[in-house]
Amino acid sequence: MCPPRYFAVDYAINPWMDPDTPVDRERALAQWAGLRDTYRRLGHTVEEIEPQPGLPDMVFAANSGLVLGGRVLGARFRAPQRGPEAEHYRRWFTGHGYHDITMPSRINEAEGDFAWTGRLLLAGTGFRTEPEAHAEAQEVFGVPVLSLRLVDPRFYHLDTALFVLSEATGDSPGEIAYYPPAFSPGSQRVLARLFPDAVIATDADAECFGLNGVSDNRHVVLPAEAAALAGRLADRGYEPVPVELSELRKGGGGPKCCTLEIRK
Ligand code: ARG
Repeated sequence: MCPPRYFAVDYAINPWMDPDTPVDRERALAQWAGLRDTYRRLGHTVEEIEPQPGLPDMVFAANSGLVLGGRVLGARFRAPQRGPEAEHYRRWFTGHGYHDITMPSRINEAEGDFAWTGRLLLAGTGFRTEPEAHAEAQEVFGVPVLSLRLVDPRFYHLDTALFVLSEATGDSPGEIAYYPPAFSPGSQRVLARLFPDAVIATDADAECFGLNGVSDNRHVVLPAEAAALAGRLADRGYEPVPVELSELRKGGGGPKCCTLEIRK
């Protein structure tokens, strides 16, 4: 995770960002610390990377790496404003004992557009990550990658429209939650076929970034506004953990965007 010490909305690269809306950086920092402390309270280890001046979106750590089995695939951003973030994260990995690092040759916004089900790597394209980056990820990790097409600019990254609630085991493909209208008709059919028991999000669930959640297979950290979705997850046996991240939403992100999950 990266503290939002230089967080700002100085440019608009997604429909949620409005440079004319003031951002309260102290509040962003406090809310971010709340998210970090929530993970620690749930028993997870959180490492922090040093934020850099001039990189206001660096707080959205999910976009800078995908780590599976200790292997790292770095990022290549679409927006030039975010370009330099990739190198800071690459250096963090190098300095923390990760030696198997590949930097992508195609636009790749990492966990923003990739979700690991434990068996399949779901991969989004349409707004940011290029389809060729999906193929690159498949070569790097040696896991099957499934391309999905995003069609609604509000849900420009896969992690704004879908997340994994629990990983695949035995006969189960894993459990996901997603918002069908964010996907092309063909991708919707693929998701329905692979995950017939998925939690289907409503417009309201998706619009408050309810799908930008982080699950450890039991606790599901999600925005406080996603109360209705939280209720349905509780009915399925999960423990919803609401967090307040309203300032970071002004940058177009929620809990998952602020979290790069390291799968050793
Ligand atoms: N302002 C950032 C952008 O548009 C937000 C990134 C959100 N991250 C995410 N994983 N969805 O690139």
